[in-house]
Amino acid sequence: MNSDVEIAGDPLAIPHLMPPAPAHPSTVAGFAGLARAIAADRAGWTRLVRYDATTRWYHRLRTGPGYEVWLLSWVPGQGSGPHDHGPSSGVLTVLQGELTEIAETSGGVRQRLAEGAQRVFAPGYAHEIVNDSLAPAVSLHVYSPGLTEMPMHRRASRPAVRTPAVRNVTAG
Ligand SMILES: [Fe+2]
Repeated sequence: MNSDVEIAGDPLAIPHLMPPAPAHPSTVAGFAGLARAIAADRAGWTRLVRYDATTRWYHRLRTGPGYEVWLLSWVPGQGSGPHDHGPSSGVLTVLQGELTEIAETSGGVRQRLAEGAQRVFAPGYAHEIVNDSLAPAVSLHVYSPGLTEMPMHRRASRPAVRTPAVRNVTAG
């Protein structure tokens, strides 16, 4: 029996016939990979970060077809408030420090996100992000499509549910 490679040839042996690598990501995995690549380029983002005690600081780092990338800083005590992201999906990556996510969609589960942690969420996902650590934090947010609305939610009064700190987690 012949294999596909024997019949059609090894595509890796003819790289000039391979489709070019896409210039922009278009999948969740692609957006997560973009975020990891930006995270690894610390010199590219650390010089841009500002810390503002009066309001959360954010900077649109990059845009592409169907997505945008935001850089955010969080001084201790700052938080987003409960919200969703309208029709956008997203990838949240902690670049520096620690953040806590309260996942409204998951019943208020609190999860500490250490440096390098990554969260992926679909449209309709509702959460709150806070820096309840004692040090500033920086995060990267990829939204697809670009964030056009961020409806705020009322904070539900529920007992806090804590889970252990995580690193490099992806979940919806
Ligand atoms: Fe969010």
